[in-house]
Amino acid sequence: MRATLPTPHLQSFPSPPPLSFKPSLAFPETRRKSLSTTFVPKGASSPSFARLPLRVRASSQAASATEAAKSTALPSQMKAWVYGEYGGVDVLKLDEKVDVPEVKEDQVLIKVAAAALNPVDAKRRQGKFKATDSPLPTVPGYDVAGVVVKVGSQVKELKEGDEVYGNINEKALEGPKQFGSLAEYTAVEEKLLALKPKNLDFAQAAGLPLAIETAYEGLERTGFSAGKSILVLNGAGGVGSLVIQLAKQVFGASKVAATSSTGKLELLKSLGADLAIDYTKENFEDLPEKFDVVFDAIGQCDKAVKAIKEGGSVVALTGAVTPPGFRFVVTSNGEVLKKLNPYLESGKVKPVVDPKGPFPFAQVAEAFSYIETNRAVGKVVIHPIP
Ligand SMILES: NC(=O)c1ccc[n+]([C@@H]2O[C@H](COP(=O)([O-])OP(=O)(O)OC[C@H]3O[C@@H](n4cnc5c(N)ncnc54)[C@H](OP(=O)(O)O)[C@@H]3O)[C@@H](O)[C@H]2O)c1
Repeated sequence: MRATLPTPHLQSFPSPPPLSFKPSLAFPETRRKSLSTTFVPKGASSPSFARLPLRVRASSQAASATEAAKSTALPSQMKAWVYGEYGGVDVLKLDEKVDVPEVKEDQVLIKVAAAALNPVDAKRRQGKFKATDSPLPTVPGYDVAGVVVKVGSQVKELKEGDEVYGNINEKALEGPKQFGSLAEYTAVEEKLLALKPKNLDFAQAAGLPLAIETAYEGLERTGFSAGKSILVLNGAGGVGSLVIQLAKQVFGASKVAATSSTGKLELLKSLGADLAIDYTKENFEDLPEKFDVVFDAIGQCDKAVKAIKEGGSVVALTGAVTPPGFRFVVTSNGEVLKKLNPYLESGKVKPVVDPKGPFPFAQVAEAFSYIETNRAVGKVVIHPIP
């Protein structure tokens, strides 16, 4: 049995106003992106190592004169975490001279205030998605919160000075951006962003985008609706902690059950779980109670299908899929964040930031090592970023 963990950073709020919500959104089409950087490979932090500039430049990325005119004085180079080969945490290097990305017409440049890690960052760095990855070198990072400092010519709503947050990669595994959010600046399509909820600081907001979009999209894909019951496998992780809250507060679940180890059961209940199942003591698939939906955020689809009612659904985020379970890969969408902002601003849905963090920018490698233990509570956040 594991020791009880320190209480995660959960914000408390006054009673929220009643809100109506229609969980149905249209997903806009993909647009391509291009960026540039200078890469310093493994070992380059040593003063004796000759800096090797590898310029990676896509064809259509030159900023227009209009965009340049709109920009304030920005540095041409920045600090960023970079890896030039796939591997363990040791391939990550802090490079102080990476080119600040140029914005395409539909993008904004964000001064990054906070970022967050997701398991996909670690799996991508390990080379698990190399067939569909962008070329190396890579600045990792999907989740961002920060301030808009420059806008492309076709940007419609966002303006300089806006505080925004989002998941910068529209398709998590299909050509994710070569230059991500673990940097001082990152360039992102406007459609992937939303204004940061006013009540949340940058660190809290940074942990939300990929996880809350996954939670929402997964619930939608199961056809989840008011009055249905759900079992969340891995209720204490980044995604599961939000599935519990969205199912209850946004979709109107009749009953929410969730699994974790002993020390995290109280967290599950504080997030709204009616039943917290200790997976170190009970096999959820052997319980007499069955559910309309099982949201599998751990990779136990073979067992999950035994816990649904006849005609029920199992959505699986990872691992092998057993019918009738199905898997999907999250699509980033600023419209989802905009729809959910009222629930965040009212406090009906709360960010969960792992108490071991936030990790300062200099400790990104340590943050990776931590998320790779598979023990993180809620989100592993990086803040401040210089
Ligand atoms: N398909 C997609 O689009 C998509 C999107 C997001 C995430 N994912 C994947 O979904 C998975 C979850 O992501 P995440 O960000 O939520 O992960 P996470 O935050 O890293 O999950 C960590 C949590 O997993 C829990 N855990 C470990 N073993 C468990 C078990 N046997 N049963 C229940 N809980 C267990 C741990 O709690 P204990 O210490 O209590 O065990 C820990 O709190 C990852 O594999 C990720 O790659 C897929």
